[in-house]
Amino acid sequence: MAVRVLHLSDLHLGSRGGQIAGPGLTELIERASPELIVVGGDLVNRGRRQQFEQSAAFLRSLGPAVAAVPGNHDLPYTFPARFSHPWREFERQWATTEPVHRSEHLLAIGLNSAQPWRHQSGSLRRDSLERTARLLAETPPEVYRLVFLHHHLACAPWRARKRPLSDRRHVLRKLAESGVDLIASGHIHQGSVVERHEFDVGAGIRPLVVTTAPGLGRPRPHRQREAHGLQLYSFDEGEITVETYIWRENELRLTGTRRFPR
Ligand SMILES: [Fe+2]
Ligand SMILES: [Fe+2]
Repeated sequence: MAVRVLHLSDLHLGSRGGQIAGPGLTELIERASPELIVVGGDLVNRGRRQQFEQSAAFLRSLGPAVAAVPGNHDLPYTFPARFSHPWREFERQWATTEPVHRSEHLLAIGLNSAQPWRHQSGSLRRDSLERTARLLAETPPEVYRLVFLHHHLACAPWRARKRPLSDRRHVLRKLAESGVDLIASGHIHQGSVVERHEFDVGAGIRPLVVTTAPGLGRPRPHRQREAHGLQLYSFDEGEITVETYIWRENELRLTGTRRFPR
């Protein structure tokens, strides 16, 4: 039985003049019937309560279960809240910044890579990474294992100034050794899909797919070098399929399908 997960990221709700999802999203969800929607951060543009209320209402209206992690834009832009209560508004809606979704066939773990003292870049807390590695390693191999976070491990296909996750080599190795099947990120607003053997000669036997999602929102509609869309993952017994959907002329179109043996 295929298990599907929809990956949305970077809504940037509340950005002035920006757009969020276009038409076709509801139809895609009805057709694909994902078990879970993972949301890869930057749910809002300025970390404000009203923006969080709107983004949560939108995401919950889609139907399937939702698990969300924050991005750098989900931190308050005001002081001292940015340091004294960095996650208060996010947690008011989502209870935790590091959710875990478990079912018979799927384990999905969210990690919080945004930090109040960093502007754009991201890092993981050591204890979060250790806990995630433990959870992954304890899970039977037939269960599909997904980790999602805001900051990317693999770079954008086109030029982006944004730096990847701090210490990404260590993080990648640790998660790979613990048996993760797919690591999904956002932040760069460009879609990319790569299997670890395509860039790492020492990757061992097990395949590991590393993706970034296009932006679900377009906070800067006039900026080039960004994409407006989403990713859909299907986990099957021997295969992981990644479908990339992009809005073109206000229509959500399948742009690419990539399959990886599991
Ligand atoms: Fe973003
Ligand atoms: Fe971001």
